[in-house]
Amino acid sequence: MIGPAFKIGTGYDVHALIPGRDLILGGVKIDFDRGLAGHSDADVLVHAVCDAILGAAGLGDIGEHFPDNDPSYKGISSMILLEKCQNMIKARGFKISNMDCIVFAQVPKISPHKRIMEENIARVLVMDKNFVNIKATTTEKLGFIGKEQGIAAQCTVLLTAIRE
Ligand code: CDP
Ligand code: ZN
Repeated sequence: MIGPAFKIGTGYDVHALIPGRDLILGGVKIDFDRGLAGHSDADVLVHAVCDAILGAAGLGDIGEHFPDNDPSYKGISSMILLEKCQNMIKARGFKISNMDCIVFAQVPKISPHKRIMEENIARVLVMDKNFVNIKATTTEKLGFIGKEQGIAAQCTVLLTAIRE
């Protein structure tokens, strides 16, 4: 095989928290009085996962593949973008071994939804949900996250070459 057997990638994303939008995180619609601004469904967690996958594969970032000025992506479920990222790495002979994610949000509480988010992401990526880990943290009321102006997410993934 040419090239490394393992490839690591990281992703980070931020969206503004505003009234009048649904809050979708990890494919879960969370009951909350505000949601994330964005061209797609603005699922900041899934965007960070996509960026980590693309980064590991040396394929740039989500904005290059799915531009936010492309009308075909307006309101699209970010899970569809995630599936496209998965297809890209599979075509290059890699699978995701595991991922670890952080959601940075002062509000709302993420922990009641973490398991279902992990299951959603694992299902789309055709991987074992035990290898998808989601964590959450506030920023102790500091900065734009702490002031409830936005939510951020970060992800690290490990890709492993598929050996036939
Ligand atoms: O991160 P740290 O343990 O310093 O404290 P925290 O930010 O207050 O988070 C305490 C717990 O709440 C952690 O176990 C997080 O997983 C959880 N949490 C959450 O469910 N939703 C958030 N928006 C923030 C934190
Ligand atoms: Zn995003």
